[in-house]
Amino acid sequence: MSILLISKTRDMKPFRDALLDLDNNLDVDIWPGIKSNERVNFAVAWNHPKNQFSNFPNLRVISSLGAGVDHLLDDESIGKHVVLTRVVAPKLTEQMCDYATMTILNMIRHTQKYTYQQEKAEWNPINHFSKENLNIGIMGLGQLGKRVAMRLINNGFKVSGWSKSEKSIPEVRTFKDKELDSFLATTNVLVCLLPLTSDTEGILDLNIFKNLAKPSFLLNVARGEHLVEEDLIYALDMNLLNHATLDVFQKEPLPDSHPFWGRDRITITPHIASLTDPAESAELILDNYKRMLSGQKLLNTVDLDKEY
Ligand SMILES: NC(=O)c1ccc[n+]([C@@H]2O[C@H](COP(=O)([O-])OP(=O)(O)OC[C@H]3O[C@@H](n4cnc5c(N)ncnc54)[C@H](OP(=O)(O)O)[C@@H]3O)[C@@H](O)[C@H]2O)c1
Repeated sequence: MSILLISKTRDMKPFRDALLDLDNNLDVDIWPGIKSNERVNFAVAWNHPKNQFSNFPNLRVISSLGAGVDHLLDDESIGKHVVLTRVVAPKLTEQMCDYATMTILNMIRHTQKYTYQQEKAEWNPINHFSKENLNIGIMGLGQLGKRVAMRLINNGFKVSGWSKSEKSIPEVRTFKDKELDSFLATTNVLVCLLPLTSDTEGILDLNIFKNLAKPSFLLNVARGEHLVEEDLIYALDMNLLNHATLDVFQKEPLPDSHPFWGRDRITITPHIASLTDPAESAELILDNYKRMLSGQKLLNTVDLDKEY
């Protein structure tokens, strides 16, 4: 029995060390240095090389190292019997709450404009938007969206949210499924925290931007593929949107030649809104690993029909 840590881009050594700190008897391999393919029964994947999993005949569970699972859903080498899970970690959620609060305040208080002004030694106060007059609308009220909504409420914002099924969150006005237009009509700051699925790919398009309340802002912290990039540029040029903050992109790292780089009304961060902590995630992964071995119900499983 062994755990495989597999990623093309992430240094998995801290995660192996954290697992071994918890249980020194574990057998943990880091791709591509696998001792025995037959021994691998649990894998932890992040941005993994595609079509590798059929090499592990005894693989039973794959855990995403983060909250998103879209990187696993299109891998045809994952057998139908393999259960997919994800890491849902309090520290990851807390970081997302911090990031959303920080970036929304930065957008409505013009932080980026002041950064440019400072470079030119320019003293020019700009009227800012007050949070009492803006409504934040969160698309996706799952593990992250719900917590972000509650944090923003605690910070004095008015918050609404949209999800597939009906939700009840204190002080948050909730909308479901077919009520998207009503949700947008009351939203100034649109925050995308949806999973990437066949229903949500390309959801952040011109139609959505046109239907937002004015002034309008966008924060995409979910996946780059949610956004129709040329529609964002058009919406900014047409003043349908005041500012956008993006943490995720269709192609990461964002290419040097990408038009987003040169825009003063787009704030870019390199997919850092919330990062998986090795020690915290190791505890959650080990818990599910032990559950698998003892035949107990796994935590945070992915519903393949829903794609999240
Ligand atoms: N930038 C970063 O650093 C970073 C870090 C972590 C995660 N993320 C992204 O954040 C995403 C959300 O994570 P999470 O843990 O909060 O996901 P989650 O717990 O699975 O929640 C997903 C939410 O989206 C709603 N939803 C899904 N499909 C929908 C649709 N077609 N229409 C309306 N609502 C829909 C769900 O509705 P129901 O509740 O009704 O099912 C649920 O409320 C991840 O998938 C990942 O892409 C980004």
